[in-house]
Amino acid sequence: MNATRPAVILDCDPGHDDALAIAVAAGHAELLGITTVAGNVPLPLTTRNALAMVRVLGLDAPVHVGSPRPLVAEPRTAEFIHGASGLDGPELPADLGEPASRDAIGFIVDAVRARPGEVWLVATGPLTNVALALRTAPDLAELLAGISIMGGGVPFGNATPAAEFNILVDPEAADVVFRSGVRLIMAGLNVTHQWPIGPDERARIRAAGGRVAGFCADLLDFYGAAYARVFSGVPAGPLHDPIAVLALTHPQLFEVEPAHVVVELTGTHTRGMTLADLRGVRHDEAPNVELLTRIDAAAATELLVSTLATYG
Ligand code: BDR
Ligand code: CA
Repeated sequence: MNATRPAVILDCDPGHDDALAIAVAAGHAELLGITTVAGNVPLPLTTRNALAMVRVLGLDAPVHVGSPRPLVAEPRTAEFIHGASGLDGPELPADLGEPASRDAIGFIVDAVRARPGEVWLVATGPLTNVALALRTAPDLAELLAGISIMGGGVPFGNATPAAEFNILVDPEAADVVFRSGVRLIMAGLNVTHQWPIGPDERARIRAAGGRVAGFCADLLDFYGAAYARVFSGVPAGPLHDPIAVLALTHPQLFEVEPAHVVVELTGTHTRGMTLADLRGVRHDEAPNVELLTRIDAAAATELLVSTLATYG
């Protein structure tokens, strides 16, 4: 991998933290395109929000529309965190461009085949598009540089005590991805909760100056307030999704452990759980995941502030 500027397709469901992931990916990766999936809000809104971020950031990355619903599960959304629009907080631009296509899966397959071994798929929403791409083109598992996801948690969830939102929305898709044999980097809640963005961090982003930094600080104000209301009482939201990008562009920020991780598809209380074998015993199953375990949160914040400042 070109660790400094890897070629990336960002598959996402914006979403406040997805929006920040787009900003970080455009700043530090070769962003080949953005593909959208139903997740935090329904697909028309995640697509609209991706187009809005392209406009806010002044990008030329194409947006391709993906899956409108999970493979098997009933759709599930998270307006209680992201608001009715999926990007509540700042005013979104009215004049949006059009998606480049409604065939995100075809775009992913073609882009990966065009550059064997070079393209990373970064997935920050439910894994529906990713699973469909792997099923449509079984050669992708070999041809991808790898997949870096925000999803799961070891050993805890947020949508349920056991399951993290992205995995719970489409556990069958996650199962396909975790069992695909592809190189897989996992940013779960165990690492993302180490990077909360509270009032101090938001003030630093705002102080960086510029329209984009102000827009993102407004996003993070709304997001922090939602986390305070729903979870902790503290106005700080973990910046989950950018971590899946930073794992590629700034691996020095992280500690990583190999692990064998499976997705629970049944279970009375545990559907959608990412169960990691951390027993440290000899076992048959080789590690299938590079599990991020620690982030240097201070350095990550520094990087985020300087990245947003570059947009002006
Ligand atoms: C994940 O769920 C979504 O609400 C966020 O965008 C993030 O991808 C965190 O569990
Ligand atoms: Ca997301």
